Amino acid sequence: MFQEFNKIEKVSGELKLPGDKSISHRAVMFSSLSKGKSVIYNLSDGEDVKSTKNCFKQLGIQVENKKDTVEIEGKGFKGFKKPLTPLDAGNSGTTTRLISGILIAQNFESIVIGDESLSKRPMKRIIDPLSLMGGRIEGSKNSTLPLKIFPVEKINAIDYELPIASAQIKSAVLLAGLHGYEVTSVIEKFPSRDHTEKMLGLKVEKKDSKKISYSSRINYPLPHEYFVPSDISTASFFIVLTLLTKNSFLRIKDVTINETRIGILNVLKEMGGSIEIENQKETTGELYGDIIIKSSQLHNVKIDEKIIPNIIDEIPILSIAGIFAEGDLEIRNASELRGKETDRINAIVSNLSLLGLNVEEFDDGFSVNGETNNEVPIFESYGDHRIAMAFGILSLVLTQGGKVNNFGCVNISNPNFLSQLKEVVR
Ligand code: S3P
Repeated sequence: MFQEFNKIEKVSGELKLPGDKSISHRAVMFSSLSKGKSVIYNLSDGEDVKSTKNCFKQLGIQVENKKDTVEIEGKGFKGFKKPLTPLDAGNSGTTTRLISGILIAQNFESIVIGDESLSKRPMKRIIDPLSLMGGRIEGSKNSTLPLKIFPVEKINAIDYELPIASAQIKSAVLLAGLHGYEVTSVIEKFPSRDHTEKMLGLKVEKKDSKKISYSSRINYPLPHEYFVPSDISTASFFIVLTLLTKNSFLRIKDVTINETRIGILNVLKEMGGSIEIENQKETTGELYGDIIIKSSQLHNVKIDEKIIPNIIDEIPILSIAGIFAEGDLEIRNASELRGKETDRINAIVSNLSLLGLNVEEFDDGFSVNGETNNEVPIFESYGDHRIAMAFGILSLVLTQGGKVNNFGCVNISNPNFLSQLKEVVR
């Protein structure tokens, strides 16, 4: 089904967004691992986090949705029960890869499945290190889902240098490490998001410009009261819309400003965006605050390779900002985008080409220049929530408006995207 968008006049007001998806997954997982009752405030209401909740329910964990909270009765170390049916991770890469780090340490067999998109995504990246730890885990051909995980007696500690900058691989190894007596370490050249380390209170060191995180049985989580700050990746769509629309002003309340997530704010500021942070606070090691945005004239900047893991989920919406900014937009060193919910390089390039822009596709990115034409585009979401929202935002700033096909996939991270837009667009 198409979703139609007409050009808006301006953005104004204040917005409160649902909980950060990455932090929400971890809050559910760590509550389930601990022994006793945890309470989670502002948990993400998206389908991905529902998949995580359902997987843990299948593992025998009681998960109760209350009015403003979710309560989880964790079963403690090796307290999960063998699931009777395959664990369905839906569309969620984070659920699959992180839960695998927990399942390989159990004394029962389990199977992880997912939807069509997830079933194409690469899993060798976790199968390799988890096997090194003594885990017995098999993918289907091409190392994709379903994943079969066999019972083991014991997990071995490893020192693992990440071949790819990925918080999901890092977290899978650190979570498996929670089940060992010896200390497991993960070494990163380019730091990825660090919610696992922060929320579990893991020891982290910097050595020769590399970051090393450590986990072992002493870090096994305790029941906790979690407050999940609002999702900066979700906020980015509204931030870019405000920057691109004349006479606009927006305050987004209580957003994650963890330093491994604010790459998008730094790049947009460097591009000339008026973005400020107020009311900074902290919860379970995570920083959050209000983000204040005003309309701005943007110019494109060179994006350093080091910052790519920090903005990986925001590249679709950053590319929308880039086509209205002075100078040419170029994204490189981002081949990881090809393994997301869809091949995001191809999705961005194909959609932007509909506007008559000069778009060039590279293995690891793309470049764009030229002027948009006046045709009413029908963008394709490719079933990817971030592509759908990015091209919805683009449609709102095009003089002729635009349409996005198969827009319902926004439910993966933000089911209320359209009603939030209604609150702030004039
Ligand atoms: C996530 C890590 C990132 C990101 C994903 C969420 C996480 O994936 O793209 O949306 O919560 O750990 P990679 O770590 O594979 O880059």
